[in-house]
Amino acid sequence: MLQNAFAIHGDIVWSKSLDQLECVPDGYLVVVGDQVQGVYPQLPDEYQGIHVEGQAGHLVIPGLNDIHLHAPQYAFRGLGMDLELLDWLNTHTFPEERKYADLDYAGRAYDIFADDLLHSPTTRAVVFGTMHVEATELLMDRLEATGLVTYVGKVNMDRNSPDYLCEKDAASSLADTRRWLDNVERKHYQHTRPILTPRFTPTCSDELMAGLGQLKQERGLPLQSHLSENLSEIDWVHGLCPWSSCYGQTYERFGQLDGDGKVVMAHCNYSTDEEIDILKRHDVYVATCPQSNMQLSSGIAPIRRYLDEGMHVGLGTDVAGGATLSMFRAMADLVGCSKLRWRLVDQSLTPLSPAEAFYIATVGGGSFFGKVGSFRKGYQADILVLDDSGVRTPLDLDPTLRLERYAYLDEEGGRMAQKYVAGRRVL
Ligand code: GUN
Ligand code: FE
Repeated sequence: MLQNAFAIHGDIVWSKSLDQLECVPDGYLVVVGDQVQGVYPQLPDEYQGIHVEGQAGHLVIPGLNDIHLHAPQYAFRGLGMDLELLDWLNTHTFPEERKYADLDYAGRAYDIFADDLLHSPTTRAVVFGTMHVEATELLMDRLEATGLVTYVGKVNMDRNSPDYLCEKDAASSLADTRRWLDNVERKHYQHTRPILTPRFTPTCSDELMAGLGQLKQERGLPLQSHLSENLSEIDWVHGLCPWSSCYGQTYERFGQLDGDGKVVMAHCNYSTDEEIDILKRHDVYVATCPQSNMQLSSGIAPIRRYLDEGMHVGLGTDVAGGATLSMFRAMADLVGCSKLRWRLVDQSLTPLSPAEAFYIATVGGGSFFGKVGSFRKGYQADILVLDDSGVRTPLDLDPTLRLERYAYLDEEGGRMAQKYVAGRRVL
């Protein structure tokens, strides 16, 4: 049993509950196989002699889970932030995604994306590809090679999209999706799984939405999409689906929230009471993406309410709506956005604390993947070892404050020394 055990030594911090951190300074995190065995102030007798990694003084935290981002948009990150969602899609996003019909371009772009994601603090991610089957398989191959755990989606879009980035009709979109799923199954990936990905209601016909709902239930697949991100988008959905009384219904009606596979909806900035009921009824995950919501002037999600309602909430970078892959930056943005919402919109919803943002980035999004995001016994051993010794200051802080600072400084003066996913060292 001890053969596949190892320990990591350092200042160990993880979430005990939504707003409380657990901290064992100068402790030992013991991993057996792919799971956390426990965290101890000293290495217990039964583990004496196992391999010990890490270093005194380094921070040891659970990996961060980015549950919404777009791999093909990474190429133009940090550009074109001057438009709102629908104009941004037409001006910047669709012309870029078109390029992924070319596998040579896709290979060059996805090599960079996968390598940068590996070197980021993200251990698991839920990722949009493009509508192209071959490029999406190539993306999955590249991500598989990193050892990170990901869900990756071939995008469906068969209406209201430019000719150069629009599937012919629902039947061909569904046929491509089945072909992609069959190809992926034959590859027997260890870490990479498919997720159904209707882009959003405006670009998917009713027939396509119904076909995807059926496929989801037939194969027990998870599903990701966008919901109530931007006011013009919501108006458009009401026009396209006059029978609906909220945007969420346009997914629910076609069976996309049913079945065994989990569902994650990005944003939910403007979900009504009725929509919140739908999300709760189907255990849907909200992927909140604060930086994207600022850059595209989309709005501020009422995350405190979703937490109070007991909903699943995770964090996403939404690259390239968000400019960077940094989940530390996303945590700081989440706290900052919640403060602006409290100050400017609604004083009944108190701002989030850094500890709460950390919980959402680890446990909150982690549960989309199973027992992930905590150092409790039995959780998957996803671990970051962080060296913050380069932060120049005379202060001597306890590890929880150093973690808060690490996130706010977005790794300035810091460096990720090691990274593990399910007990495997990936960096
Ligand atoms: N809604 C539909 N497509 C997209 C996209 O690519 N990014 C964002 N942020 N929202 C979307
Ligand atoms: Fe998105």
